[in-house]
Amino acid sequence: MRFDRIIQGGNVVTPGGSFVGDVGIVGEKIAALGTSLDATGAEVVDARGHHVIPGVLDVHVHLELPFCGTTSADDYRTGTRAGARGGVTTLIDFAIPYAGESLSDAVDNWMKKAEGKALIDYTFHVCITRWQEHKDQIAAMVERGFPTFKEFMIYESEGWQSDDRALFSTLEKMKEYGAMLLVHAESARVLDELIARHHTPELMKEYGARLHAITRPNFIEAEAIERAVRWCEATGGQLYIVHMSTAEGTDIVRAAQARGVPVLAETCVQYLVLDDSVFGREDGHLFACCPQLKTPADSERLWQGLKSGEVSVISTDTCTFTREQKAMWEGDWTKIPMGMPGLETLLPLTYTEGVLGGRLTLDEMCAKLSTNPARIMGLHPRKGAIQVGADADIAIIHPTRTITVRPDDMETNADWSPFEGWELAGFARTTLSRGEIIVDDYKVVGQAGRGRWLPRASAGLAAASAASAPTATAALVPSTERAAAVTA
Ligand code: URP
Ligand code: ZN
Ligand code: ZN
Repeated sequence: MRFDRIIQGGNVVTPGGSFVGDVGIVGEKIAALGTSLDATGAEVVDARGHHVIPGVLDVHVHLELPFCGTTSADDYRTGTRAGARGGVTTLIDFAIPYAGESLSDAVDNWMKKAEGKALIDYTFHVCITRWQEHKDQIAAMVERGFPTFKEFMIYESEGWQSDDRALFSTLEKMKEYGAMLLVHAESARVLDELIARHHTPELMKEYGARLHAITRPNFIEAEAIERAVRWCEATGGQLYIVHMSTAEGTDIVRAAQARGVPVLAETCVQYLVLDDSVFGREDGHLFACCPQLKTPADSERLWQGLKSGEVSVISTDTCTFTREQKAMWEGDWTKIPMGMPGLETLLPLTYTEGVLGGRLTLDEMCAKLSTNPARIMGLHPRKGAIQVGADADIAIIHPTRTITVRPDDMETNADWSPFEGWELAGFARTTLSRGEIIVDDYKVVGQAGRGRWLPRASAGLAAASAASAPTATAALVPSTERAAAVTA
């Protein structure tokens, strides 16, 4: 077979295990895997001494999002460049309808944000923000290639909040359409009450940004996850808990999966590597995101949940704000634009802290960053694995070479980084997207606008099972609970 490009001599991570050898590419696809592929006429990418891993899917991203009285600072140009530098080859953003808009309008708006700017492939989760208006539009969105929906249990002031009626009824529809509901789980009314009790000039002066953590004790997330899981169990609709940050939430998800409830969970890398001690720093307000960073014990439980399987995916919840935007808080934590940059450092952080830190194997990292998200979001086998027939979306990383995180050197529009000064391995030396080199020698070389929208047919455990060999599906959920969860 003649190849257009061969990635030669690297440690290639596939769903069936790793081998030292070659990846042969024809056009946009992986055409062969082997130990000494014929390179005649092919462009050779030397990967000796490197890991060759599937391109990362960051399935929780907000680019150019109007939020908290401003607009998040990474758009599709800078956000996708940042992703590529960090080995991300696919992202999923959230299309949110604003006043009077339909689900379809929201998707049209987000398509426009991406067009001409995206360097990597993308699609969107569709946010249901007004149940009565949006409920009859769900089927058409599935038909249009969007089988993942999102509801927020908080954010009344943004006009995004869903109540139990919406959650329950949407989950019913998810079951009917083979679709999946993503939920931001925090308990709105108790959170409102705790914020109101602490919103005094005296307390704000005394505690500053620490009030962000003080007003969101772990039970705020745990109660909401418990409730969403209850509606999931009652309806049989596929549920996916986004940005899970607590040990309690992880325990609830594990117990539900053991009962055969069709619930999946993601965490974000910031909840694994940072904790709420940052709010005591002079610049602690920069770290405000929603939900907020928790304690080292929560991080520990989340790592454990990744290892044992109840946490299926690591994402970023990228929602970048500059120092100037963050300064809008003026000492009142309720006014901090919530979110942090993340796309560029997802893989380096997970590799350095997870794999080099001895918490995950390289194979497990690839499952959490690539294969599981692709399966769960209905993008497998096109995305998420190095295997014949898949898109040639690949990251080549050096096993130990580190780069110091410096905002000035980064592609993100953020003028700060939560990880400034950290020495991280795992930045992409080379990133390929559909066979094309878009990062070379750690620099972005691909063109804006080459990224494509990715239509999908279904999502959740059912889609994952249908698209995968049984051994591959095994990585999604803990082995003891696998049978129950997959058949639910
Ligand atoms: O702080 C965050 N996460 N901002 C984005 C909105 C959300 O809740 O995901
Ligand atoms: Zn959220
Ligand atoms: Zn988010």
